[in-house]
Amino acid sequence: MLIRPPRIDERGEWLRFRERLWPGTPGVDLRSEQDAILADPERAGVLLATSDNGTPIGFVEVSLRSGAEGCETSPVGYIEAWYVEPEHRRRGVGARLLGAAEAWAAARGCREVGSDAEIWNEASLAAHRACGYDEVMRVVMLRKRIDPGRRDASRA
Ligand SMILES: CC(C)(COP(=O)(O)OP(=O)(O)OC[C@H]1O[C@@H](n2cnc3c(N)ncnc32)[C@H](O)[C@@H]1OP(=O)(O)O)[C@@H](O)C(=O)NCCC(=O)NCCS
Repeated sequence: MLIRPPRIDERGEWLRFRERLWPGTPGVDLRSEQDAILADPERAGVLLATSDNGTPIGFVEVSLRSGAEGCETSPVGYIEAWYVEPEHRRRGVGARLLGAAEAWAAARGCREVGSDAEIWNEASLAAHRACGYDEVMRVVMLRKRIDPGRRDASRA
């Protein structure tokens, strides 16, 4: 297995992984995010894991942020995406990807790395923990539809 940046001709594979990680996100958004990552290699990076025959089997995206929940230093590395193809999971690929992302951040002066996972994503939470990440907080996002132009009924 090798961990390395994607070649230009592997952009499609990288996009397919992104589609699997974020199903339902419009392709145009997924592609423009790829453009943004490639445009600023000091602010964001992407690394592919490839099998011994060169086939991409997973990826990680990492960025520099000024801070992150639970972190005490600045800047920090931030794990923006982490994905391994289902048939290649539980064999150390994800840990290698995370290690490479951490090295990317360390090379840019970071002393901490932040990440996140949805509360239902037990596999991701367990894998993060197994790779040395401590849980620092849980968040629930909420929403409510409102009528545009509605007046505040509590006011006379
Ligand atoms: C999360 C993910 C990238 C992990 O990749 P992976 O290649 O299976 O991870 P590894 O095999 O390197 O495992 C790393 C550690 O996590 C643990 N782990 C991985 N998956 C686990 C699971 N489902 N349950 C419990 N522990 C798990 C491993 O046992 C290992 O710990 P160890 O070193 O103590 O043995 C992979 O499960 C995945 O792509 N999930 C779907 C996408 C996703 O949810 N990404 C994260 C978004 S926040």
